[in-house]
Amino acid sequence: MSAVRELLARYLRQRRELGEDSLFLETLTRGEALALAAGRRGAAVPDAARAAAATPGTAPAPAAPASALERVRAGALACTRCRLHASRRTVVFGEGPASAEVVVVGEAPGAEEDRSGRPFVGPAGKLLDRLLASAGFPRERVYICNVLKCRPPGNRDPQPDEIASCAPFLEQQIELIAPRALLAVGAFAAQTLVGETHGITTLRGRVHRRGSIPVVVTYHPAYLLRSPERVRAAWQDFQLLRQVVDGEA
Ligand code: URA
Repeated sequence: MSAVRELLARYLRQRRELGEDSLFLETLTRGEALALAAGRRGAAVPDAARAAAATPGTAPAPAAPASALERVRAGALACTRCRLHASRRTVVFGEGPASAEVVVVGEAPGAEEDRSGRPFVGPAGKLLDRLLASAGFPRERVYICNVLKCRPPGNRDPQPDEIASCAPFLEQQIELIAPRALLAVGAFAAQTLVGETHGITTLRGRVHRRGSIPVVVTYHPAYLLRSPERVRAAWQDFQLLRQVVDGEA
């Protein structure tokens, strides 16, 4: 190892010992993006969290009535509107602060989410966490949910009638939280939030609107795990989300 790399490695170890497990980087190399996709520990995960917290002019949104959100959750837990209620183990309603600046919307729970009742906890969720952190959004500060609250058997695609049955829950979540921005991950979420039928490649890279709320669209992290060459583009989407939340895009 060269002297510079040795020094860098020591610096990173020291940061970790001091409780810093992420770094802010302004650029991400292909190697770093691949490491991110592979979920390697120590991969260069940019972290603008503290910078974001200190950004002037980003006053926290007024807290949504958490109890109202709890009432919507109770409705979802008891829901039998579509066939998915028969095969689900748990209803994965969503989690995060009711005052979150960002609501992340995925497609539907997978096997691990169905077991745990929490959204994005599997390998795709780990990558999502890292990409969020790279833009200064620690997972615990965003609200994460899905278009469908129940797992489609075998992770098949959501059916239009299932999306329609579940839509009121998502609409109420968005209305109550009133985030500064929505992040749609994957085609189903993007099409549901933006109301267009184009694929992700067409929809990403610009800011859409759902009513007055800006919507940023990105690849589904499960797709990124299969196509790591797209992680860099996804990282750019998360930076766009940062700019939107900061009022810069
Ligand atoms: N994929 C999703 O779209 N949502 C989850 O919660 C997990 C995997």
